Amino acid sequence: MKKLLYIDGCIRDELSRTKKIATPIINALKEKYDVETFVLNDMNLSVVQKELITKRNNGEIDKEVISWAEMVRDADRIVISAPFWDMSIPAALKNFIELCSIFDVTFKSNDKTCYGNCKAEKMLFITTRGMDIDTGSNLEQATPYLKALSWLWGIGDLFVVSAQNMDYVSEQEIENKINIAIADGLKIVKEF
Ligand SMILES: Cc1cc2nc3c(=O)[nH]c(=O)nc-3n(C[C@H](O)[C@H](O)[C@H](O)COP(=O)(O)O)c2cc1C
Repeated sequence: MKKLLYIDGCIRDELSRTKKIATPIINALKEKYDVETFVLNDMNLSVVQKELITKRNNGEIDKEVISWAEMVRDADRIVISAPFWDMSIPAALKNFIELCSIFDVTFKSNDKTCYGNCKAEKMLFITTRGMDIDTGSNLEQATPYLKALSWLWGIGDLFVVSAQNMDYVSEQEIENKINIAIADGLKIVKEF
């Protein structure tokens, strides 16, 4: 079976609406893929600061972190779930991405530019937003960032499942939005 890497960035965990959308989608994907999951809440993510970057530049990279980056590199498909925080993604997810963005693992370079080294032809991003902000609007800086990252890492198409205006509607409307997003996601699963 082909491999799918699921990066669970639903920081609020069991309270997370994003997770309520992602869970049935991931369960459906388990029929097609061998799914490995990183739950960012459960990981000990060091912030990439001076000491770490100096070590990295000297070729000293934590073996566990390299193994995470290799899993990103080798996955046939990648799914990321994360809420919309401060107009983008939660820092824990950005942090995980910085840790995995390792030269000669997730990307390479020649004498002119960087290019991707990951296998996945498709990536799915699942998110929910508090305000009524559309995917790709100028105020929405999560999807454009993940698209740019897909380019750096050499990942193919980015699919997005989202629900928005979650903080300004009734519980019933939130549930309806979650169910619509799950249905959207299950449609994507067929072509994913
Ligand atoms: C720390 C934090 C930052 C947030 N920042 C934004 C934001 O910038 N824009 C927005 O529309 N909603 C923002 N929200 C609201 C969330 O996007 C919204 O409640 C979302 O549904 C939460 O997803 P979750 O239930 O999966 O945690 C923020 C919520 C939190 C807790």
